[in-house]
Amino acid sequence: MRHFLTLKDFTKGEILEIIDLAVKIKKETKGNIFKKYMPNKTLGMIFEKSSTRTRVSFEVGIYQLGGVGLFLSSNDIQLGRGEPIKDTSRVISRMVDMVMIRNNSQDELQEFASYSKVPVINGLTNKFHPVQLMADYLTIVEHKRAENLKVAYIGDGNNMTHSWLMLASKLGFDLSIATPIGYEVDAEILNLAQQFAKESGAKIVVTNDPKIAVKDATVITTDTWVSMGQEDEKEKRIKDFSGFMVDSNIMGLASSSSLFLHCLPAYRGYEVSEEVFEKHSEEIFDEAENRLHVQKAIMVWLDSNR
Ligand code: CP
Ligand code: NVA
Repeated sequence: MRHFLTLKDFTKGEILEIIDLAVKIKKETKGNIFKKYMPNKTLGMIFEKSSTRTRVSFEVGIYQLGGVGLFLSSNDIQLGRGEPIKDTSRVISRMVDMVMIRNNSQDELQEFASYSKVPVINGLTNKFHPVQLMADYLTIVEHKRAENLKVAYIGDGNNMTHSWLMLASKLGFDLSIATPIGYEVDAEILNLAQQFAKESGAKIVVTNDPKIAVKDATVITTDTWVSMGQEDEKEKRIKDFSGFMVDSNIMGLASSSSLFLHCLPAYRGYEVSEEVFEKHSEEIFDEAENRLHVQKAIMVWLDSNR
């Protein structure tokens, strides 16, 4: 049985196999063909944090596959009142066929998975957001940017950045990350990415200068400066991230046909300017929609690899 907790557990071949499956399932869905790949299967969806895309895409996705999703807010289940994660896992995984969790701690997610009888999917933790990266890569493939791909990430060294590190180092494309001083990526995750990169041929650059990162990039991306749970640091972060907004000056230093991606929600006037966001809204909302298609593929893949 496989879980989907971080892309570090997946080979290049497996990642591309899931992407191919997503392309197929998306084509069927667009043609109003809803194949019941998971008839009568149940997906438990545990949320410790807010969500628009993750909740809607998983709930609609499992329904379209012939199953049903259960929305379980940690405020409403006993987990929120202190029932141990390992007990929650042993109960829920006896009743459902798959679990998706959005929680604070990657370690707790790993713990949940280690006690689970069914596949567990990471719907975002403090460390990684792997389902988002699968949607991002599907968007890159659809917009025909997968060849000679050079991604520039400008902003906070957070769960999105760590997931970009895993995707780039597994697939073997170039990734330049520019963060302000003090907001660099986790050193252990960077180290791991550099090890994978030796095998895949990925070129990973980390810098504190957005201009260096963005040079010749074919895809530019960013994320909020204030992730969920960091609200108390908002004022300080806004000061510290000065000069890191992706605006038309920054975009002007990249390749002229470059894409701009954003996992959303976006905060215009902070990590991205209104102008850049609206100019690239087509690919941004393709990316958001692709959460649905790629997660259906992830669920089908996990279900068939049991
Ligand atoms: N990008 C993303 O995961 O969005 P939500 O927080 O709305 O799920
Ligand atoms: N880094 C953001 C991503 C939101 C989808 C957060 O963790 O809040």
